[in-house]
Amino acid sequence: MSKYSLLVTHHSLLITHHSKTIKVSNIRLLWSFKIMPIQEKFDLKDRVAVITGGGGLLGEEFARTLGEAGASVVVADLDGGLARRVASALSAAGVPSLAVQTDVTNPASVQNMVAQTLNVFGRLDILVNSAALDPKVRNQENRRTGEQGNRGTGEQENRGTGEQENRRTGEQETDSLIPDSLIPDPPIPDSLIPDPLSHTFENYPLELWNQALNVNLTGMFLASQAAVGPMLEQEYGVIINLCSIYGLAGPDQRIYQREGQPPQFKPVHYAVTKAGVLGLTRYLATYYAGKNIRTNALTPGGVYNEHDDEFVKSYSARAVMGRMARKDEMNGALLFLASDASSYMTGANLVVDGGWTAW
Ligand SMILES: NC(=O)c1ccc[n+]([C@@H]2O[C@H](COP(=O)([O-])OP(=O)(O)OC[C@H]3O[C@@H](n4cnc5c(N)ncnc54)[C@H](O)[C@@H]3O)[C@@H](O)[C@H]2O)c1
Repeated sequence: MSKYSLLVTHHSLLITHHSKTIKVSNIRLLWSFKIMPIQEKFDLKDRVAVITGGGGLLGEEFARTLGEAGASVVVADLDGGLARRVASALSAAGVPSLAVQTDVTNPASVQNMVAQTLNVFGRLDILVNSAALDPKVRNQENRRTGEQGNRGTGEQENRGTGEQENRRTGEQETDSLIPDSLIPDPPIPDSLIPDPLSHTFENYPLELWNQALNVNLTGMFLASQAAVGPMLEQEYGVIINLCSIYGLAGPDQRIYQREGQPPQFKPVHYAVTKAGVLGLTRYLATYYAGKNIRTNALTPGGVYNEHDDEFVKSYSARAVMGRMARKDEMNGALLFLASDASSYMTGANLVVDGGWTAW
């Protein structure tokens, strides 16, 4: 009677028949055989992750989560100070990390992000496309500021730069490697930033529409385009695109209104770009069929971030869970999508919205 034995190692599958052993190192074939314990499926040891918008509210959470799961982490953000602060905290916690000031709307800057990643860590396994212009309602004191990303919310100042601390990578102050042409213009003073929430649809400025399409969609296109090069070579890659409930459902503009105050509107560009994210996600998933590159979307519901009480109340009333999300409540889903725990999932959208879109 013939007897086979199978031994699965990290890089290969050994099939022994009597005294003969066949080694299978083809990664795709190997994956179809490998049965992993559940903890191992979430383990990101030896993986390298890049997070665009890694200095943002959720971006920072994603960077920490992937680092805690064992990945080396590249924090890419338009705001180099924020990126350095997040990377420094990771380094202090023992996570190999790197900050790269990156403008996702600039092809050369995005290519530089990937080149720096390969220089320092030698591969790129996971791309989290989190950078976006996401106009947020905040309490009245800082409402005029902070509408575009974190700019001017005061977060940069509090977060510090932590430049000296990038110890683990110990590599280099990455900004110093970036040619002047790639360094973005200094931040625009808050007083000059048009407030995207103050415009009706009829009067929505073309400039704001174009700016948001450029960051939220073109940026995601450029970052994915640059990252798939090494992923194709490795025959392995995971892309996660950040969507929003407003990519699935139209905003209920009533929750943005305040009695006795000028009307506010969640802008059209946000709903349109986030709906576009799902198209890009499905396109990349199917385009790279058979290449072991998986692309999925993650759709968070509203995450609490210093919103005023009235907004929190009206938003919460529309969520089945009856509240906004905490900023750490996307991390489980993010790790699931980034890891082999979701190895049979591509072209999908994982919704973590407290039931917002369920009714
Ligand atoms: N926070 C929420 O409530 C929420 C809800 C649903 C979806 N989302 C989505 O999740 C993602 C992350 O959200 P967040 O709360 O961390 O946003 P955030 O505004 O806190 O952070 C966005 C980050 O992107 C960076 N950025 C802006 N323009 C850039 C550019 N051109 N190049 C590189 N970086 C740039 C900003 O500097 C900022 O650090 C976004 O795509 C957002 O649309 C967030």
